[in-house]
Amino acid sequence: MTSTPEVENKRPIRSYVIRSGRLTGSQRKAIDQHWQDYVIDFQKDLLDFQKLFHKPGKLVIEIGFGMGDSLLEMAIANPGNNYIGIEVHRPGVGKLLHGIAENNVSNLKVICHDAKEVFEFCIVDGTVDRLQIYFPDPWPKKRHNKRRLVQTEFIVSLLPKLKPGAEIHMATDVQAYAEHMMEVLEGIEELTNSNGKQNYWKNANRPDTKFENRGKRLGHGVWDLLFSRVLARKSSD
Ligand SMILES: C[S@@+](CC[C@H](N)C(=O)[O-])C[C@H]1O[C@@H](n2cnc3c(N)ncnc32)[C@H](O)[C@@H]1O
Repeated sequence: MTSTPEVENKRPIRSYVIRSGRLTGSQRKAIDQHWQDYVIDFQKDLLDFQKLFHKPGKLVIEIGFGMGDSLLEMAIANPGNNYIGIEVHRPGVGKLLHGIAENNVSNLKVICHDAKEVFEFCIVDGTVDRLQIYFPDPWPKKRHNKRRLVQTEFIVSLLPKLKPGAEIHMATDVQAYAEHMMEVLEGIEELTNSNGKQNYWKNANRPDTKFENRGKRLGHGVWDLLFSRVLARKSSD
């Protein structure tokens, strides 16, 4: 009897679980009323940023904005930048849409889809000025570590999307994840640590996030990392 070849399990490893949190009335209303104006529906096509935004500006992409308060604050404070927030959690998308509409913000768009696929299919090479990843899900159990968003393979895959000199800003309230981020980013030749090798960024200039404040209430520390993309090979620093 011939044996059946084993079918490889090809399901991608996701860095998130879709939480079943219910939409509030205001989030649902914002999704119904403002989706068309501010959400870019995911398609396997490159985005045309010039068409998406009213004015040209630096392109900042944030992965996993959660409820979106800090991203909204940044977009309002920096009208010369254009922002794209990527998030899979619909209540967060609804909350941010409400904020965008209420404040009449024209430099912030939302994509409700897995950021890995967004980067793979939608972002044009050499267009991103800054990538922000704040308090990504820590996946603390060893067997779940592979689900962490920040992995060498993912960061290397998105490097071509960054302009030379573009920045990557990350933060976490989990020391083990901070050390993992540092190892991943320091290990990539095309990136250089803006605060000096192995150094975290003290007093990073960004608004607090909801998840961060929850961590602080529980007594967690906060670690920020800022790297930039260089074209030349790192010298043996
Ligand atoms: C721990 S929360 C932090 C949210 C927010 N940045 C904050 O600090 O309050 C991480 C968020 O990342 C989102 N996320 C995780 N992986 C993602 C992915 N691949 N694409 C888009 N969003 C993702 C989750 O849905 C979740 O809302």
